[in-house]
Amino acid sequence: MQLTPKRWNGVIEHYARFLPVTDATPVISLSEGNTPLIRADNFVAALGGGFELWLKYEGLNPTCSFKDRGMTLAVSKAAERGAKVVICASTGNTSASAAAYAARAKMKCVVLIPEGKIALGKLAQALMYGAVTVSIRGNFDAALRIVRELGETGLVEVVNSINPVRIEGQKTAAFEICDQLGRAPDFHFLPVGNAGNITAYWRGFKEYHAAGLTDRRPRIFGFQAAGAAPIVDGHPITHPCTVASAINIGHPASWAGATNACAESDGFIGKVTDEEILTAYKMIARTDGIFVEPASATPLAGLIRCAREGRIPTGSIVTAIMTGHGLKDPDTAIRTAGAEPFVVDATREAVMQVMGL
Ligand code: F0G
Repeated sequence: MQLTPKRWNGVIEHYARFLPVTDATPVISLSEGNTPLIRADNFVAALGGGFELWLKYEGLNPTCSFKDRGMTLAVSKAAERGAKVVICASTGNTSASAAAYAARAKMKCVVLIPEGKIALGKLAQALMYGAVTVSIRGNFDAALRIVRELGETGLVEVVNSINPVRIEGQKTAAFEICDQLGRAPDFHFLPVGNAGNITAYWRGFKEYHAAGLTDRRPRIFGFQAAGAAPIVDGHPITHPCTVASAINIGHPASWAGATNACAESDGFIGKVTDEEILTAYKMIARTDGIFVEPASATPLAGLIRCAREGRIPTGSIVTAIMTGHGLKDPDTAIRTAGAEPFVVDATREAVMQVMGL
């Protein structure tokens, strides 16, 4: 028997016909995408059952977040234009992704991060991939303002989601969900920070439907953290504050994209407290063995609420995006686990004692 090699070469190659690329585009890829869609029956059972929940585990992308989908396209298009320097503001994941793809494209990468406000794993990534890492004495919104100003000089290529090709790349996750499920879900839950991703998902679900590849479009349910919920509260937040550092954003760039996705899909944008986020964060690790970062647990906290309020009709197919890997933020994980290792002598008896045997 002859084995036929079947390699996944990333989202640009796979979904080229839906993306702004040509044969002249140099593809800078780390084989991102093709992430698992995992059914989370135990989590649903703990909520009383009644619907199917499928989690798109985007933490299994090459830099461990969904950002790689948009970044492969942003850096490829920057390379096509001959850019030498890419820059972004970030709460951590965008900077990790930009740094990795820029390294591969032999470009200089500059990342602006809010000082002391990004998870340790993400900082390690930016430094390891060799990005010029600048800690701003200010928050993400201040960093993005500076990046916009620098972008206007024409000296650098901005790879935040204000660069429209980022959104184009990120919409491929919606395509994959439909491909993996064999249909579009009834509801799609996701976290909302700078609001690029909710904009991207809605575009992806709409395009697949318009292409005749699905027979429906999901209702989009986005969730912000209560301390950083400008869209829900209806005004920018000057000092956003949440344990979900990835979405600690007071003035989202794609605000209109988020409200549009909500309006057009008959969706909902709500907010959940840090306590609810951490409960969902710990719960999904323990019920289904899926370790995500706190921001990624935000839609699960929203789902717990919606299920309790009876907003998910029986038999619904629900998807949620798990945007980033849990290992990104070891500090919050160890704090939230509420347990410490037992330290014992290196004997069988000592271990048996801990086991209660
Ligand atoms: N989840 C994670 C893990 C994120 O890193 C982000 C955004 C979001 C959700 C929200 O997505 O901004 O498109 O609404 N992180 C950006 C960053 C801001 O700099 O890494 P969004």
